[in-house]
Amino acid sequence: MYGYAPGRANIIGEHVDYNDGYIFPFAIERKTTVLIKKSDDSSFRVRSKGYGAFVINPEKMEPRGDWTDYIQGVFWVLKRHDRFHLFPVTLEVDSDVPIGAGLSSSASVEVATLAALNGFFTLGLDKATLIAYAKEAENDFVGVQCGIMDQFASVMGKEDHAIFMDTRSGDFEYVPIDLDDKTFLVINSKVSHALGSGEYNRRRAECALCLNTLHRSSFRDISLAELENKRALLPPVAYLRGLHVLTEIERTCLCKTALLEKDWALVGRLLTQSHSSLRDNYQVSCEEIEYLIENLNQFSSVWGARIMGGGFGGSLIALVEERAVPKILAELSDKYFHRYGIRLEGYQVKPSKGAGYVDS
Ligand code: GLA
Repeated sequence: MYGYAPGRANIIGEHVDYNDGYIFPFAIERKTTVLIKKSDDSSFRVRSKGYGAFVINPEKMEPRGDWTDYIQGVFWVLKRHDRFHLFPVTLEVDSDVPIGAGLSSSASVEVATLAALNGFFTLGLDKATLIAYAKEAENDFVGVQCGIMDQFASVMGKEDHAIFMDTRSGDFEYVPIDLDDKTFLVINSKVSHALGSGEYNRRRAECALCLNTLHRSSFRDISLAELENKRALLPPVAYLRGLHVLTEIERTCLCKTALLEKDWALVGRLLTQSHSSLRDNYQVSCEEIEYLIENLNQFSSVWGARIMGGGFGGSLIALVEERAVPKILAELSDKYFHRYGIRLEGYQVKPSKGAGYVDS
């Protein structure tokens, strides 16, 4: 038997899933699979193609700061919820979700591990519980205070649909994605500035500072006008973070309508505005991504582009004319290599189904 779980892309709605905003992600075709078998001995063994092996000690699970944390984290959460009545198994992990690329490779490992255990041991975990447990593994074991987006998209993904979700209420709807002759192109800068998780948690704290200073408990109860009026009360960084959140919430709603109406120019503009705000107000971009975005925007076949995911490197997402993809990738790849000595990777992404397991 094996469990599988995809990575995700996010059209727009970045760094707002932990700020009561709207998000617009979809599961992608790239996924992690976890093959599960009864162990030959009394150990819980994990092997990962290309990343080595390790043995989980259920009596003593501690983060090691590497890929094994995502798997240990899942076992740790099951134990915390008194669901760890498992006999020893071996897990073989394989993934084509690039690591550190902002495509949620970590969520896909967590969800695929849970899906495999859920199927093999008939734990009866429903989708909401899979999402909650995977997020808990990331928040409380790995130590990244991420929002719900990655685990949610990985579990709930649907072919040809993106998911428009209100992270305040938890309500969501599937939005059909029909791009005609256009496509979403993800470009992986292959840089991952290790500040990642520390800076991520710091952004969360700065958003909380913005809310506290304004005596509000949700960004949904603050208008842009109010933020501007009260700017003098706020530490400059808290103002900037709030400005990103409020404008991104608005852009995400506009983008959903624009996509349904096939208003590509507007979709592109919103992506570009989102990027500017992530760079200037949320400050999660980096030199290499800026270089890629600037050069991408020179192509007439590119409608808009922005950094995607947690930031500080990783990937960008662009709306482009599908026929131009080979030319864009070839030219951009050469330029980028000459400048930084790094070979970028490009992937066309399209909305795909979410996690599950297969009795093989
Ligand atoms: C990471 C987190 C998500 C989300 C994004 C930024 O991917 O895991 O919860 O906050 O960053 O939008």
